[in-house]
Amino acid sequence: MSENSEIGNGFVPSGQLQFGVFFQGVNSGTVWKAAESGSQTDFDSFRHLAQTAERGLFAAFFLGEGLRLREHLGRPHALDVAGRPDAQTMLAALAAVTNKIGLVATQNTTYNDPAHLAHRFSSLDLLSGGRAAWNVVTTDNAWTGENFRRGGYLDHTDRYRHAEAFVETAKRIWDSWAQDAIAESETAAAWSAPGSIREVSHAGQHYTVEYAPGLPRSAQYRPVLFQAGDSPEGRDFAARQADVIFSAHPAYAPALDFRRDIVARTVKAGRGPNDVQIMPASEFILAATAQEAVDKKAWVRSQQIGPQQAIAYLEQFWGRELSEYDPDGPLPEIDPVVVETSETRGSGFHGAKARQLADQWRAESKDKGQSIRAFVSGKTSRVDATFTGSYTDIADTLARYAKSGAVDGFNISPWLVPTGLDDIVNHLVPELQARGVYPTEYAGTTLREHLGLPVPVRPEVQSEQGGETTAAEVSLQLAVAAQQL
Ligand SMILES: Cc1cc2nc3c(=O)[nH]c(=O)nc-3n(C[C@H](O)[C@H](O)[C@H](O)COP(=O)(O)O)c2cc1C
Repeated sequence: MSENSEIGNGFVPSGQLQFGVFFQGVNSGTVWKAAESGSQTDFDSFRHLAQTAERGLFAAFFLGEGLRLREHLGRPHALDVAGRPDAQTMLAALAAVTNKIGLVATQNTTYNDPAHLAHRFSSLDLLSGGRAAWNVVTTDNAWTGENFRRGGYLDHTDRYRHAEAFVETAKRIWDSWAQDAIAESETAAAWSAPGSIREVSHAGQHYTVEYAPGLPRSAQYRPVLFQAGDSPEGRDFAARQADVIFSAHPAYAPALDFRRDIVARTVKAGRGPNDVQIMPASEFILAATAQEAVDKKAWVRSQQIGPQQAIAYLEQFWGRELSEYDPDGPLPEIDPVVVETSETRGSGFHGAKARQLADQWRAESKDKGQSIRAFVSGKTSRVDATFTGSYTDIADTLARYAKSGAVDGFNISPWLVPTGLDDIVNHLVPELQARGVYPTEYAGTTLREHLGLPVPVRPEVQSEQGGETTAAEVSLQLAVAAQQL
């Protein structure tokens, strides 16, 4: 079977991998009690990780978004309390202390306004010399929405329709400047060529926008679009709109399945089979030998899920304090007081049937002879997302991903902040380079160039007569195009 046919639909593996680093901010994955760990909110931690990643030729520095602190039993979650500074603000500061690495900001389409967000992304893209990307998410929970003017107004079923109108509008705004809109010579009569900047008009169910252009295009034309969301609607949305998917499928077989699925959806959406790249979330626990790495992993896990974290995890489902229970003893015999869990502690806790789960978990842990701590550690470990091994073994494993095209790279969550990338950059990257599957230099200066993405083509809306298009004509054409979506 050829490599191509493993995926099908004309997909051709690039044979290359790219790395991104995902600075999480809030999670149980970062060992914040380790002696070497630093602050998760000080700029210096972000700077250290970004500069290390750039030394390792990482394509992207990636920030998630969380607009409200997660909660535990109705209070801010004390074990997860660091919080996430606004991604665009942080990335603007990082742009000044880095030169090449892409800067990816997660921003939701639910609580923002398309014109305003497009403007802010243009700003980041311009000031970073074409290194900005937007990771589009559709945060829809009313719990986060309470912090905003519109409250939790968006139905779950509507969020991708809404997101599509949002992204389409942002793209039109970025398309409003022609390639040659800015006069090259200082002696030119005018700063911009007449007719090269057009207004944007969008009329749809979710947005009616009459936009007079604000900022010129960047060195990479417009920000690269990432997407994170895994439902069939989310995948179709990515297939139509995104350049890269931040996926949740790093294990080999699921990654191949996911690639096949995305390629099929992308082709169905009228795009090329290689048009959407995939970078799954992943964690690396590496050492010089396989045994050292296994020991290191046991230590990392024991730190990630300590006694307090184990009890707190169960409390989330039981809906009451369980501090009287021994983390090294069996699961509580009493029943949860909640019927269904809410996502106030993150989307992973959304909508679980607590009582059924408690019965199931008690039986499961008894069967395996597991304590609370061992059980929770097993439940919360992203086994499939963790690459544990020697530098050479993991380099071989990753080379297989590159060869088949299962993924285009990995978005790495370091378990230690801010030094968690040091061994990856110092040891894994050279091993990958030696295998010819990782860049030995940045391909250019923009994120689009690092990822090998084509520069978008500006849709034409000039009138047939060749004259300058009036705002009314543009408005009509775009309104018609919007109806056809
Ligand atoms: C890998 C991954 C990372 C995500 N990161 C964020 C994030 O940082 N902030 C956020 O609000 N939502 C985040 N989301 C949530 C998605 O935007 C979306 O709301 C959620 O996955 C539900 O959509 P779905 O049903 O299409 O999966 C993430 C989702 C995935 C799969």
